[in-house]
Amino acid sequence: MIRILANDGIEADGQAKMEAAGFEVVTTKVPQDQLAEALKDYDAICVRSATTVRRELIDRVPNLKAIARGGVGMDNIDVEYARSKGIKVVNTPAASSRAVAELVFGHIFTLARGIQVANRDMSTGDFAKLKKGLAGGVQLEGLTLGVVGLGRIGREVARIGLGIGMRIIGSDPYQKHVDVEVPIHGIGTAPVVRVNSLSLHEMLKRADVITLHVPAQDGEALINAEELALLQQDAIIVNTARGGLINEEALLAALEEGKIRGVALDVFEGEPKPDARLLNHPRISVTPHVGAATGEAQRLIGEELADQLIAILG
Ligand code: 3PG
Repeated sequence: MIRILANDGIEADGQAKMEAAGFEVVTTKVPQDQLAEALKDYDAICVRSATTVRRELIDRVPNLKAIARGGVGMDNIDVEYARSKGIKVVNTPAASSRAVAELVFGHIFTLARGIQVANRDMSTGDFAKLKKGLAGGVQLEGLTLGVVGLGRIGREVARIGLGIGMRIIGSDPYQKHVDVEVPIHGIGTAPVVRVNSLSLHEMLKRADVITLHVPAQDGEALINAEELALLQQDAIIVNTARGGLINEEALLAALEEGKIRGVALDVFEGEPKPDARLLNHPRISVTPHVGAATGEAQRLIGEELADQLIAILG
């Protein structure tokens, strides 16, 4: 019987699909340092972002036939090395795009009106004083949204931005432009809007709101003090992609200078123990890496993983 260890869990429908195909799916979490031993009894491992599958582990489990990442980012897996050993490595790049894009807008709306401050302070603060402090909100209609990375998630973010009347510009070294369809319920053909790709620096200078949708980078951050200095007064910047894309020290310094209206972070350099200065900052809206955490996305991820593993191992 094919045995799968879903070490970071798997949504029930995906699990049921694999079981219906005759697989045994175990969801009891094995600590990272015991994985090499435990995996000797399995044909495949499913992970999210918590479990890492590095070279040293791969070397110790020659029986492993597949590594499945339920999600997009594969930075927790030594993908090329695993493939060089004949192990199939798959992920689910499309399943969570909408969920991430909607979280991005949850944060943008939050920062535009200071909702993070109200949520933190209303139980203890003075109502009238808080109201006065939050008087300088900003409306998003007509503002320019800069999308760094025009892949699946970036394009989904662009669609929502267009829907609420934002202008969209992008930055993606692999694209000159992308055409984004904006579905309007009740009309037959969706209008298509062309989003142009600029250099990162040019885009940062022009956008009021910036959101990052690129994979983890090796080495230096993408947004450092130099890039933060290019931002418009009162810019908003959102990172739901990967910790380390924005240099956190430079970000805190830029916030202190008062140039940035707000920052949203779903991902952190120090996950799962982010820098407390970020968590407590009044102009930062935070979530604990929950971009893909909707029932809809997790169902799609589970089913897509099941289909792929059944195709590989069935
Ligand atoms: C991804 O790369 O898919 C996201 O960062 C989600 O990570 P998670 O599976 O740990 O929620």
